[in-house]
Amino acid sequence: MADFFPPPVLPLAIRFDPHTALAEPSGPVVTRRISDLEGLFADAAAWERLRADGDPVIYSVASSPVPELARELPQSVTTIHPGDCGGEFFMTKGHQHPDPQGEIYLGLAGKGGLLLFNGERPDWIDMSPGMIGYIPPGWAHRSVNVGSEPYRFLAVYPGSAGHDYQWVVEHGMGHRIWRSAAGFELKSFGGSS
Ligand code: F6R
Ligand code: ZN
Repeated sequence: MADFFPPPVLPLAIRFDPHTALAEPSGPVVTRRISDLEGLFADAAAWERLRADGDPVIYSVASSPVPELARELPQSVTTIHPGDCGGEFFMTKGHQHPDPQGEIYLGLAGKGGLLLFNGERPDWIDMSPGMIGYIPPGWAHRSVNVGSEPYRFLAVYPGSAGHDYQWVVEHGMGHRIWRSAAGFELKSFGGSS
């Protein structure tokens, strides 16, 4: 598998193909299946049915070779497939940056959203091609595909930010994103209908 470049990283141009999400030169690619998102969807029975029925890929993250190290500025392209688990739209695991640093997302394809939570209040940014979503320091973030096509975005973040997934397991994200007659709706974290 492609890996991060060892430092020192020299100036480089990276071609990110918005249609395939492939980077050239390429870095690591992470694939998340429904089994990797255990305990994150509200409907555990629906999650188990999906897991038993082929364990579909929910999203993948293709990184550039810029390493996740202090002072570097890594980038990645995330692609979330369309679909839902018991009515709750497919989404990323979500994380907090242990080193509280900001991040930007740029929408590349499809229709999605950026769910943010600072432990007290949630926020939501509609994402589509050309939209930049800003994640301030201290806000946990999760991406959601609310459309019928793959939702794809570029992320650019400080290399020392890190990823704390346990924070989201313990605190939730404030809201869940459900399929609705109007397309989608946000409901408080415990709500499932
Ligand atoms: C990096 C970042 C994104 C996510 C990616 C997958 O700080 O926010 O590149 O890592 O969208 O989401 P998670 O990491 O929550 O599985
Ligand atoms: Zn992040």
